[in-house]
Amino acid sequence: MSERVRYDHFAVVADEYWRSFGPEFSELILPRIDRLIREHRIRLRSVLDLGCGTGSFAIRMALRGLHVTGLDASSGALGVARRKAAQKNVRVRWVVGDMRSFAADQKYDLVTSVFNSVNHLLSARDLRAMFVTVSRVLVPGGHFIFDLNHRKCFEEVWGEVSVVRKPCFTLVRCDEIDRKHQRATAHLVVFLKRGSHYVCSTDTIKEKWFSKSTIQQAARHAGLRVIYKADFNPFPKQMGYSPDIKSLWMLRGEA
Ligand SMILES: C[S@@+](CC[C@H](N)C(=O)[O-])C[C@H]1O[C@@H](n2cnc3c(N)ncnc32)[C@H](O)[C@@H]1O
Repeated sequence: MSERVRYDHFAVVADEYWRSFGPEFSELILPRIDRLIREHRIRLRSVLDLGCGTGSFAIRMALRGLHVTGLDASSGALGVARRKAAQKNVRVRWVVGDMRSFAADQKYDLVTSVFNSVNHLLSARDLRAMFVTVSRVLVPGGHFIFDLNHRKCFEEVWGEVSVVRKPCFTLVRCDEIDRKHQRATAHLVVFLKRGSHYVCSTDTIKEKWFSKSTIQQAARHAGLRVIYKADFNPFPKQMGYSPDIKSLWMLRGEA
């Protein structure tokens, strides 16, 4: 088993932290995913969202009446997801698990993974393991849609040191980019307000960027065919990032 990412403390404040930079990622990506679903005439009843985090995307899909499972390695993130789903009175099956190795007891029409969850796999071997796992849980001819951060995204979007201060928490973030190993690390210190004092905890998020050919080879190895790939930039124009900081992929399983 390779390195584990730690999200449990950050998860508690993650939604509010990301809101300080703009709309929720699930809101930004959904129109692009809907277009793919429409254009490829995917008949959808069941969705598995990998690295679902605090559940925003999974909940949006469940609100459409689909049978949705959200899988994440962080029980802290799933705790937040559970509360959000209960508030919206929507049913999602939440599973603590690893996207490289989980065993599902059902098949899915669509597997998704959004907001660079796939970048959290830190080697080509882990990427292959995840694709093999996905191909096993797809119905024949089912689809897998995911987005990825490119190197440019880490260089342009990730900062050196930043502080976000909110009434309920302060988050200090220190990023490092390791070009040799094609990795980026975010060290997070979360100060959570508890009455008149702060409780301090730390998390480390590690991500890796992959070349197009690494993704294609790993997909082929798992019997998945790349049927769509496009570079994009989901963030508001005024943020000034390059148009190709991320890519969106759609793979199809064997029929
Ligand atoms: C950037 S967050 C994205 C969360 C969510 N998809 C969203 O749109 O807000 C990445 C998530 O991937 C999860 N993750 C990282 N490695 C994982 C793994 N091997 N298996 C399952 N989840 C993983 C983390 O716990 C984290 O919740």
